[in-house]
Parts: sequence; C-alpha cells; structure tokens
Amino acid sequence: MSHDEISYPTYLELGTLLSLQKPQSKPEHPDELLFIVVHQASELWFKVLLHEFDTLIARLGEGDAQGSLTSMQRINTLVELVSTELSALDTLPPQRFMQFRGYLGRSSGSQSAQFRAIEATSGLRDPHFMAALKEHGELPPIVARAIERPTLQTLFLQLLERQGVALEAVYTEPQHGLLHMLAESLLAYEQGFARWRFLHVQLVERIIGPDTGGTGGTLGAKYLAKTVNQRFFPELWAVRARLYGRG
Ligand code: HEM
Repeated sequence: MSHDEISYPTYLELGTLLSLQKPQSKPEHPDELLFIVVHQASELWFKVLLHEFDTLIARLGEGDAQGSLTSMQRINTLVELVSTELSALDTLPPQRFMQFRGYLGRSSGSQSAQFRAIEATSGLRDPHFMAALKEHGELPPIVARAIERPTLQTLFLQLLERQGVALEAVYTEPQHGLLHMLAESLLAYEQGFARWRFLHVQLVERIIGPDTGGTGGTLGAKYLAKTVNQRFFPELWAVRARLYGRG
C-alpha cells in the first residue's frame, strides 16, 4: 500500500478488526458482545505484553538495567490495564450470563496459549504448571519457546552476578539505586499479576458462584483461587525473609 493510501481505517485494518466479534447465541444475547470484546481486548494486550517481554529479556541479557526498568514500567502499566478491564464484566449479572453460557461450548480461558506463554516467560515451571499444559496436548509453539528461555528471575540474578552485586546488597547498600528499582519493579509485576488473578476469581465467583465448575472442566473459582499464590520471583521474596531473619 502506498503512503497516500494509508488512512486510519486501513492502517488499523478496522474492517477486519471490527468483523471479528461473532456472538454465537441465537437470537443474539445483548451482553455477548461485551463478553467477547473483553476477552479479545485482553488477548491483544497479552500479545503486546509478550512483545514487551522479548525486549525486556534482550535488555536483561545485555546487562542493561536502565532499559530493563523502562520495559518493566510499561509491562506493569499493561498488567494494570488488563486487570482494570475485567471490571467491565462485573456488569454482567449471573442470570444473564447463564442465558448464553451454553453457546461457549468447551471454550475456556484456560486454553489461552498467550496467557500460558506469559506465565512461562515470567517463571512458572513447577510440575503442576507443566502437567496442566500437557493436559491440552501438544504445547503451543509460543509456550514451548517461552519454556526454553531462562526465567525472568534467572536473567535478573545473572545481571546482578555480572555486576558483582549480591541480591541482599541491592536491598542494603544505597549505591545500587537502579538495581533496587529494577528488583522492585519485578516484584510489582508479580503483585500486579496476582491482582489480575484475584480480580478474575472474584469476577468468576460473582458471575457463576464459588462452587460452579468451569467450561474448561476445572473446579472453577476454587481452582483459580489456588493459583493466586503462585510466585515468579521466589528469591525476591526470600531475600526479605533473610533481612528480617538477621534481626
Ligand atoms: C464472565 C466472565 C468470566 C468467567 C465466568 C470466567 C470463568 C473462568 C473459569 C471458571 C476458569 C477456570 C478454567 C475452567 O474450568 O474454565 C477460567 C480460567 C481462565 N480465564 Fe476466565 N472467566 C471470565 C472472564 C475472563 C476474561 C475476561 C479473561 C481474559 C482473558 C479470562 C481469562 C482466563 C484465563 C487466562 C484462565 C486460565 C487461568 C489459570 O489457569 O490460571 N477470563 N475462567
């Protein structure tokens, strides 16, 4: 396309984008469009997040603490945004969701490859997580790629090692201001992600109740509540305990 032909609708491919919301209910339920758009918008933000993680990982690998902090600031803003948009579905009352839930079939957020790739990139590698991934058959390439890379915690600790700074020193020696901000931005990410999980559990409880199973076959809110305490950066939590342990 030549420069002159590019306009707002062509640049953004609005024709295609706005044709992708296809409610399944018949007759169309008035709330299904909102349900689809919140999910699609979340997936778009997941795409941007994964893209930003590529930049972050490259910067951490280059030992670029300032650049990594800049990446983390954007990532944390995006996680907050994707959490906030869940609240749009707080306006979906249970009796109305019930009217079109049957049209979703077996589709469930637990099949989101991008979400799993974000978790894997961030650092989830525990046996429970890996087993859950395999339940859905072949690993999606985007998840397989994420698992092959070192976790964010490993990359951060390697960056410290190359600079000859111990993790405890980041918290106790004032000259490591930039590294301290970077460590805390990683922790803020962990908190922000857990906040998404918590808001999602609350949303699920509000709409389908605490004891209803999910369309993906899990125990629903009970399963999701267990995921809230997963940790991407155990070392960043442990270092705090060590500081206090010393008295
Ligand atoms: C009406 C609103 C929603 C309900 C009732 C709901 C329900 C559920 C349930 C019950 C699960 C557990 C898996 C299962 O058995 O299906 C789940 C998982 C999930 N949902 Fe939702 N959800 C809602 C909105 C959203 C939105 C807007 C997103 C954004 C992408 C989302 C993303 C996910 C993800 C990523 C998982 C997997 C979480 C994990 O395994 O840790 N959900 N959802």
